[in-house]
Amino acid sequence: MKRLLSGLAAIAFALAAPLPAHADRTPDDLRELSRTLRVHIGSAVDATALAGEADYRRVLNQEFNHVTAENAMKWETVEPQRGAYDWEAADAVVENARRNRQQVRGHTLVWHNQLPAWLIEGVDSGAIDARELRKILRSHIMTEVGRYRGKIRAWDVVNEVVDDTGKLRDSIWLKHLGPGYIADAFRWAHQADPRARLYINDYNLEWDAKKIETTLGIVKDLKAKRVPIHGIGFQGHLGIQYDYPGDFAGVMRRFTDLGMEAAITEADVRMVMPATAEKLATQADYYQRMLSTCVANKRCVEFTVWGFTDRHSWVPDWFEGEGAANIMDENLAHKPAYDALLAVRRK
Ligand code: G3I
Repeated sequence: MKRLLSGLAAIAFALAAPLPAHADRTPDDLRELSRTLRVHIGSAVDATALAGEADYRRVLNQEFNHVTAENAMKWETVEPQRGAYDWEAADAVVENARRNRQQVRGHTLVWHNQLPAWLIEGVDSGAIDARELRKILRSHIMTEVGRYRGKIRAWDVVNEVVDDTGKLRDSIWLKHLGPGYIADAFRWAHQADPRARLYINDYNLEWDAKKIETTLGIVKDLKAKRVPIHGIGFQGHLGIQYDYPGDFAGVMRRFTDLGMEAAITEADVRMVMPATAEKLATQADYYQRMLSTCVANKRCVEFTVWGFTDRHSWVPDWFEGEGAANIMDENLAHKPAYDALLAVRRK
Protein backbone atom coordinates (compact mmCIF):
# COMPACT_ATOMS: atom_id res chain seq x y z
CA MET A 1 0.00 0.00 0.00
CA LYS A 2 2.81 2.33 1.00
CA ARG A 3 4.54 1.58 -2.27
CA LEU A 4 1.32 2.20 -4.22
CA LEU A 5 0.86 5.58 -2.52
CA SER A 6 4.40 6.69 -3.21
CA GLY A 7 3.94 5.51 -6.82
CA LEU A 8 0.78 7.63 -7.13
CA ALA A 9 2.59 10.58 -5.56
CA ALA A 10 5.35 10.23 -8.10
CA ILE A 11 2.81 10.23 -10.95
CA ALA A 12 1.01 13.24 -9.47
CA PHE A 13 4.31 15.09 -9.19
CA ALA A 14 5.22 14.23 -12.76
CA LEU A 15 1.85 15.56 -13.97
CA ALA A 16 2.15 18.78 -11.96
CA ALA A 17 5.78 19.41 -12.94
CA PRO A 18 6.46 21.94 -15.68
CA LEU A 19 6.54 20.56 -19.21
CA PRO A 20 9.76 18.67 -19.86
CA ALA A 21 12.40 20.07 -22.12
CA HIS A 22 10.75 18.57 -25.21
CA ALA A 23 9.08 21.96 -25.81
CA ASP A 24 12.58 22.92 -26.89
CA ARG A 25 13.07 19.90 -29.10
CA THR A 26 13.66 20.74 -32.76
CA PRO A 27 10.41 20.12 -34.64
CA ASP A 28 10.49 17.28 -37.16
CA ASP A 29 9.20 19.40 -40.02
CA LEU A 30 7.55 22.70 -40.90
CA ARG A 31 4.07 21.44 -40.05
CA GLU A 32 5.19 20.70 -36.53
CA LEU A 33 6.99 24.05 -36.38
CA SER A 34 3.78 25.74 -37.45
CA ARG A 35 1.87 24.12 -34.58
CA THR A 36 4.57 25.15 -32.10
CA LEU A 37 4.68 28.74 -33.33
CA ARG A 38 0.94 29.04 -33.96
CA VAL A 39 1.69 30.65 -37.34
CA HIS A 40 0.51 29.09 -40.61
CA ILE A 41 3.50 28.04 -42.69
CA GLY A 42 2.80 27.97 -46.39
CA SER A 43 4.28 27.69 -49.84
CA ALA A 44 3.37 28.92 -53.29
CA VAL A 45 2.35 25.99 -55.46
CA ASP A 46 3.47 25.43 -59.02
CA ALA A 47 0.37 23.73 -60.44
CA THR A 48 2.32 21.95 -63.20
CA ALA A 49 4.75 20.45 -60.69
CA LEU A 50 1.87 19.51 -58.40
CA ALA A 51 0.27 17.57 -61.23
CA GLY A 52 3.42 15.98 -62.60
CA GLU A 53 6.03 15.48 -59.88
CA ALA A 54 5.34 12.96 -57.13
CA ASP A 55 8.30 14.03 -54.97
CA TYR A 56 7.27 17.70 -55.18
CA ARG A 57 3.71 16.77 -54.20
CA ARG A 58 4.87 14.60 -51.30
CA VAL A 59 7.12 17.27 -49.78
CA LEU A 60 4.57 20.07 -50.30
CA ASN A 61 1.88 18.10 -48.52
CA GLN A 62 4.11 16.86 -45.75
CA GLU A 63 5.69 20.22 -44.88
CA PHE A 64 3.05 22.89 -45.39
CA ASN A 65 -0.33 23.61 -43.87
CA HIS A 66 -1.04 26.66 -46.06
CA VAL A 67 -0.72 27.17 -49.83
CA THR A 68 -0.93 29.92 -52.44
CA ALA A 69 -1.37 29.21 -56.14
CA GLU A 70 1.73 30.72 -57.74
CA ASN A 71 0.01 31.45 -61.06
CA ALA A 72 -3.12 29.28 -61.26
CA MET A 73 -5.61 31.83 -59.92
CA LYS A 74 -4.34 34.80 -61.91
CA TRP A 75 -6.66 36.39 -64.43
CA GLU A 76 -4.80 35.27 -67.60
CA THR A 77 -5.01 31.67 -66.34
CA VAL A 78 -8.63 31.57 -65.22
CA GLU A 79 -10.16 33.59 -68.08
CA PRO A 80 -7.86 33.31 -71.10
CA GLN A 81 -10.74 34.14 -73.47
CA ARG A 82 -13.46 36.52 -72.49
CA GLY A 83 -16.22 34.59 -70.74
CA ALA A 84 -14.43 31.23 -71.20
CA TYR A 85 -13.13 30.17 -67.82
CA ASP A 86 -10.50 27.57 -67.13
CA TRP A 87 -10.46 26.55 -63.50
CA GLU A 88 -8.56 23.32 -63.91
CA ALA A 89 -5.27 24.35 -62.31
CA ALA A 90 -6.86 26.49 -59.60
CA ASP A 91 -9.32 23.74 -58.69
CA ALA A 92 -6.45 21.25 -58.48
CA VAL A 93 -4.56 23.42 -55.99
CA VAL A 94 -7.67 23.95 -53.85
CA GLU A 95 -8.68 20.28 -53.95
CA ASN A 96 -5.16 19.13 -53.08
CA ALA A 97 -5.24 21.57 -50.16
CA ARG A 98 -8.55 20.20 -48.90
CA ARG A 99 -7.27 16.64 -49.01
CA ASN A 100 -4.09 17.60 -47.16
CA ARG A 101 -5.56 19.92 -44.52
CA GLN A 102 -3.94 23.03 -45.99
CA GLN A 103 -5.55 26.44 -45.83
CA VAL A 104 -5.43 28.57 -48.95
CA ARG A 105 -4.41 32.13 -49.83
CA GLY A 106 -6.12 33.27 -53.03
CA HIS A 107 -3.71 35.14 -55.29
CA THR A 108 -4.59 37.56 -56.77
CA LEU A 109 -7.73 39.43 -57.85
CA VAL A 110 -6.54 42.86 -59.02
CA TRP A 111 -3.04 43.20 -60.45
CA HIS A 112 -1.38 44.95 -63.38
CA ASN A 113 0.48 41.79 -64.50
CA GLN A 114 -0.69 38.54 -66.03
CA LEU A 115 -3.89 40.05 -67.35
CA PRO A 116 -5.44 38.26 -70.34
CA ALA A 117 -4.64 39.66 -73.79
CA TRP A 118 -8.34 40.22 -74.61
CA LEU A 119 -8.60 42.60 -71.66
CA ILE A 120 -5.45 44.60 -72.37
CA GLU A 121 -6.16 44.82 -76.09
CA GLY A 122 -9.81 45.72 -75.50
CA VAL A 123 -8.86 48.58 -73.20
CA ASP A 124 -6.04 49.78 -75.49
CA SER A 125 -8.25 49.88 -78.56
CA GLY A 126 -11.12 51.57 -76.75
CA ALA A 127 -13.43 48.61 -77.41
CA ILE A 128 -13.77 48.31 -73.63
CA ASP A 129 -14.67 51.69 -72.10
CA ALA A 130 -14.38 52.64 -68.43
CA ARG A 131 -17.97 51.69 -67.60
CA GLU A 132 -17.56 48.27 -69.08
CA LEU A 133 -14.14 47.80 -67.49
CA ARG A 134 -15.66 48.36 -64.06
CA LYS A 135 -18.34 45.78 -64.81
CA ILE A 136 -15.70 43.33 -66.00
CA LEU A 137 -13.65 43.79 -62.83
CA ARG A 138 -16.70 43.31 -60.62
CA SER A 139 -17.69 40.19 -62.48
CA HIS A 140 -14.14 38.79 -62.30
CA ILE A 141 -13.99 39.27 -58.54
CA MET A 142 -17.51 37.99 -57.85
CA THR A 143 -17.00 34.95 -60.09
CA GLU A 144 -13.60 33.88 -58.74
CA VAL A 145 -14.20 34.63 -55.06
CA GLY A 146 -17.68 33.12 -55.35
CA ARG A 147 -16.36 29.90 -56.87
CA TYR A 148 -14.09 29.29 -53.88
CA ARG A 149 -16.38 30.75 -51.22
CA GLY A 150 -15.63 29.09 -47.88
CA LYS A 151 -12.45 27.46 -49.22
CA ILE A 152 -10.04 30.40 -49.11
CA ARG A 153 -8.73 31.71 -45.79
CA ALA A 154 -7.37 34.95 -47.22
CA TRP A 155 -7.39 36.73 -50.57
CA ASP A 156 -4.76 39.05 -52.01
CA VAL A 157 -7.46 41.41 -53.24
CA VAL A 158 -5.14 44.07 -54.62
CA ASN A 159 -1.52 43.38 -55.45
CA GLU A 160 1.29 45.91 -55.92
CA VAL A 161 -0.96 48.98 -56.28
CA VAL A 162 1.82 51.37 -55.20
CA ASP A 163 4.75 51.93 -57.56
CA ASP A 164 8.44 52.34 -56.73
CA THR A 165 8.15 56.12 -56.39
CA GLY A 166 5.40 55.80 -53.79
CA LYS A 167 2.55 56.84 -56.10
CA LEU A 168 -0.53 54.82 -56.86
CA ARG A 169 0.55 52.60 -59.73
CA ASP A 170 -0.48 53.89 -63.13
CA SER A 171 -2.22 50.62 -64.07
CA ILE A 172 -5.21 50.23 -66.37
CA TRP A 173 -7.28 50.18 -63.18
CA LEU A 174 -6.13 53.56 -61.91
CA LYS A 175 -6.08 55.11 -65.38
CA HIS A 176 -9.61 54.14 -66.32
CA LEU A 177 -11.44 53.68 -63.01
CA GLY A 178 -9.66 56.15 -60.72
CA PRO A 179 -8.41 55.33 -57.20
CA GLY A 180 -11.88 54.17 -56.09
CA TYR A 181 -11.24 50.81 -57.76
CA ILE A 182 -9.38 49.69 -54.65
CA ALA A 183 -12.34 50.16 -52.29
CA ASP A 184 -14.66 48.64 -54.88
CA ALA A 185 -12.49 45.54 -55.16
CA PHE A 186 -12.55 44.95 -51.39
CA ARG A 187 -16.31 45.50 -51.18
CA TRP A 188 -17.01 43.10 -54.03
CA ALA A 189 -14.70 40.44 -52.61
CA HIS A 190 -16.40 40.75 -49.22
CA GLN A 191 -19.80 40.40 -50.82
CA ALA A 192 -18.71 37.23 -52.59
CA ASP A 193 -17.17 35.61 -49.48
CA PRO A 194 -17.91 37.46 -46.24
CA ARG A 195 -15.64 35.17 -44.18
CA ALA A 196 -12.45 35.50 -46.22
CA ARG A 197 -9.72 37.74 -44.83
CA LEU A 198 -9.02 40.43 -47.42
CA TYR A 199 -5.45 41.66 -47.98
CA ILE A 200 -3.49 44.36 -49.72
CA ASN A 201 -0.17 42.80 -50.76
CA ASP A 202 3.10 44.33 -51.98
CA TYR A 203 6.85 43.88 -52.46
CA ASN A 204 9.58 46.03 -50.85
CA LEU A 205 7.04 46.99 -48.23
CA GLU A 206 9.49 45.64 -45.63
CA TRP A 207 11.73 48.71 -46.12
CA ASP A 208 10.71 51.18 -48.86
CA ALA A 209 9.72 54.32 -46.93
CA LYS A 210 7.66 55.89 -49.74
CA LYS A 211 5.75 52.72 -50.38
CA ILE A 212 5.18 52.19 -46.66
CA GLU A 213 3.72 55.67 -46.12
CA THR A 214 1.47 55.49 -49.17
CA THR A 215 0.23 52.03 -48.26
CA LEU A 216 -0.46 53.10 -44.67
CA GLY A 217 -2.44 56.01 -46.12
CA ILE A 218 -4.49 53.65 -48.30
CA VAL A 219 -5.24 51.38 -45.35
CA LYS A 220 -6.27 54.27 -43.08
CA ASP A 221 -8.48 55.73 -45.79
CA LEU A 222 -10.19 52.40 -46.45
CA LYS A 223 -10.74 51.78 -42.76
CA ALA A 224 -12.17 55.29 -42.28
CA LYS A 225 -14.64 54.47 -45.06
CA ARG A 226 -15.47 51.13 -43.42
CA VAL A 227 -14.21 49.20 -46.41
CA PRO A 228 -13.68 45.54 -45.47
CA ILE A 229 -9.88 45.27 -45.47
CA HIS A 230 -8.33 42.92 -42.93
CA GLY A 231 -4.72 42.20 -43.77
CA ILE A 232 -1.37 43.48 -44.94
CA GLY A 233 0.80 41.17 -47.02
CA PHE A 234 4.56 41.65 -47.07
CA GLN A 235 5.84 39.68 -50.05
CA GLY A 236 9.33 39.28 -48.59
CA HIS A 237 11.37 38.91 -51.78
CA LEU A 238 14.87 39.57 -50.42
CA GLY A 239 18.40 39.22 -51.80
CA ILE A 240 21.52 38.67 -49.74
CA GLN A 241 23.45 41.26 -51.76
CA TYR A 242 21.28 43.86 -50.00
CA ASP A 243 21.19 44.51 -46.27
CA TYR A 244 18.47 42.76 -44.35
CA PRO A 245 15.56 45.23 -43.90
CA GLY A 246 16.40 45.99 -40.30
CA ASP A 247 13.21 47.81 -39.36
CA PHE A 248 10.83 45.24 -40.79
CA ALA A 249 9.38 44.47 -37.34
CA GLY A 250 8.67 48.17 -36.77
CA VAL A 251 7.02 48.53 -40.17
CA MET A 252 4.83 45.50 -39.53
CA ARG A 253 3.84 46.96 -36.18
CA ARG A 254 2.71 50.22 -37.81
CA PHE A 255 0.20 48.23 -39.84
CA THR A 256 -0.91 45.86 -37.09
CA ASP A 257 -1.39 48.84 -34.75
CA LEU A 258 -4.15 49.85 -37.16
CA GLY A 259 -5.87 46.57 -36.34
CA MET A 260 -4.62 44.77 -39.44
CA GLU A 261 -3.71 41.11 -39.58
CA ALA A 262 -0.28 40.58 -41.17
CA ALA A 263 1.32 37.88 -43.29
CA ILE A 264 4.61 37.34 -45.04
CA THR A 265 3.20 36.08 -48.30
CA GLU A 266 6.00 35.34 -50.79
CA ALA A 267 9.26 34.90 -48.90
CA ASP A 268 12.40 34.01 -50.82
CA VAL A 269 16.03 35.07 -50.55
CA ARG A 270 18.00 35.15 -53.78
CA MET A 271 21.75 35.40 -54.31
CA VAL A 272 24.22 36.04 -57.09
CA MET A 273 25.26 32.63 -58.38
CA PRO A 274 27.16 30.46 -57.73
CA ALA A 275 25.93 29.63 -54.26
CA THR A 276 28.65 29.16 -51.60
CA ALA A 277 28.45 27.93 -48.02
CA GLU A 278 28.85 31.50 -46.82
CA LYS A 279 26.04 32.82 -49.02
CA LEU A 280 23.77 29.98 -47.94
CA ALA A 281 24.47 30.85 -44.30
CA THR A 282 23.49 34.48 -44.92
CA GLN A 283 20.39 33.31 -46.72
CA ALA A 284 19.49 31.10 -43.74
CA ASP A 285 19.86 34.08 -41.43
CA TYR A 286 17.53 36.23 -43.60
CA TYR A 287 14.86 33.51 -43.67
CA GLN A 288 15.13 33.05 -39.93
CA ARG A 289 14.81 36.77 -39.27
CA MET A 290 11.74 37.04 -41.48
CA LEU A 291 9.95 34.20 -39.72
CA SER A 292 11.02 35.56 -36.31
CA THR A 293 9.57 38.96 -37.21
CA CYS A 294 6.25 37.32 -37.95
CA VAL A 295 6.32 35.20 -34.80
CA ALA A 296 7.12 38.21 -32.61
CA ASN A 297 3.98 40.04 -33.75
CA LYS A 298 0.74 38.58 -32.34
CA ARG A 299 -1.19 39.67 -35.40
CA CYS A 300 1.14 38.04 -37.91
CA VAL A 301 -0.61 34.79 -38.72
CA GLU A 302 1.12 33.38 -41.81
CA PHE A 303 4.60 32.89 -43.21
CA THR A 304 4.55 31.66 -46.81
CA VAL A 305 7.56 30.92 -49.00
CA TRP A 306 7.36 31.61 -52.73
CA GLY A 307 8.05 28.02 -53.67
CA PHE A 308 10.08 25.65 -51.53
CA THR A 309 12.56 24.25 -54.03
CA ASP A 310 15.20 25.76 -56.31
CA ARG A 311 13.84 23.35 -58.94
CA HIS A 312 10.92 25.73 -59.50
CA SER A 313 11.63 29.38 -58.89
CA TRP A 314 10.76 32.60 -60.66
CA VAL A 315 14.14 34.11 -59.71
CA PRO A 316 16.54 32.90 -62.47
CA ASP A 317 14.03 34.03 -65.15
CA TRP A 318 13.74 37.51 -63.66
CA PHE A 319 17.19 38.34 -62.31
CA GLU A 320 20.01 37.38 -64.60
CA GLY A 321 22.77 35.49 -62.80
CA GLU A 322 20.77 35.11 -59.58
CA GLY A 323 19.08 32.08 -58.06
CA ALA A 324 19.14 29.48 -55.28
CA ALA A 325 16.44 31.49 -53.49
CA ASN A 326 14.50 28.69 -51.82
CA ILE A 327 14.81 26.57 -48.68
CA MET A 328 15.42 23.28 -50.50
CA ASP A 329 17.70 22.58 -53.45
CA GLU A 330 16.70 21.13 -56.85
CA ASN A 331 16.67 17.62 -55.36
CA LEU A 332 14.54 18.72 -52.43
CA ALA A 333 17.45 18.38 -50.00
CA HIS A 334 17.20 20.75 -47.05
CA LYS A 335 19.42 23.84 -47.27
CA PRO A 336 20.70 25.67 -44.16
CA ALA A 337 17.68 27.97 -44.51
CA TYR A 338 15.32 25.07 -43.83
CA ASP A 339 17.10 24.22 -40.57
CA ALA A 340 17.24 27.88 -39.62
CA LEU A 341 13.44 28.06 -39.87
CA LEU A 342 13.06 24.94 -37.71
CA ALA A 343 15.15 26.66 -35.02
CA VAL A 344 12.74 29.62 -34.63
CA ARG A 345 10.90 29.73 -31.27
CA ARG A 346 8.19 31.89 -29.76
CA LYS A 347 9.84 34.04 -27.09
O1 G3I B 1 2.07 30.41 -69.34
C1 G3I B 1 3.29 30.38 -70.06
C2 G3I B 1 3.50 29.03 -70.65
O2 G3I B 1 2.47 28.76 -71.56
C3 G3I B 1 4.88 28.97 -71.31
O3 G3I B 1 5.14 27.66 -71.72
C4 G3I B 1 5.98 29.39 -70.34
C5 G3I B 1 7.34 29.49 -70.99
O4 G3I B 1 8.22 30.25 -70.22
O5 G3I B 1 5.66 30.67 -69.84
C6 G3I B 1 4.45 30.64 -69.12
O6 G3I B 1 4.17 31.83 -68.48
C7 G3I B 1 5.02 32.18 -67.40
C8 G3I B 1 4.27 32.09 -66.09
O7 G3I B 1 5.07 32.58 -65.04
C9 G3I B 1 3.85 30.67 -65.75
O8 G3I B 1 4.97 29.85 -65.60
C10 G3I B 1 5.49 33.59 -67.65
O9 G3I B 1 6.32 33.63 -68.79
C11 G3I B 1 6.23 34.13 -66.45
O10 G3I B 1 6.46 35.50 -66.65
C12 G3I B 1 5.39 33.93 -65.21
O11 G3I B 1 6.13 34.41 -64.11
C13 G3I B 1 5.41 34.55 -62.90
C14 G3I B 1 5.41 36.00 -62.48
O12 G3I B 1 4.78 36.14 -61.21
C15 G3I B 1 4.68 36.87 -63.50
O13 G3I B 1 4.54 38.15 -63.08
C16 G3I B 1 6.12 33.71 -61.84
O14 G3I B 1 5.99 32.32 -62.17
C17 G3I B 1 5.51 33.98 -60.47
O15 G3I B 1 6.31 33.38 -59.49
C18 G3I B 1 5.48 35.48 -60.21
O16 G3I B 1 4.87 35.70 -58.96
C19 G3I B 1 4.82 37.05 -58.52
C20 G3I B 1 3.59 37.19 -57.66
O17 G3I B 1 2.46 36.77 -58.36
C21 G3I B 1 3.42 38.63 -57.17
N1 G3I B 1 4.60 39.09 -56.50
C22 G3I B 1 5.85 38.93 -57.23
C23 G3I B 1 6.03 37.48 -57.65
C24 G3I B 1 7.35 37.27 -58.32
O18 G3I B 1 7.41 37.99 -59.52
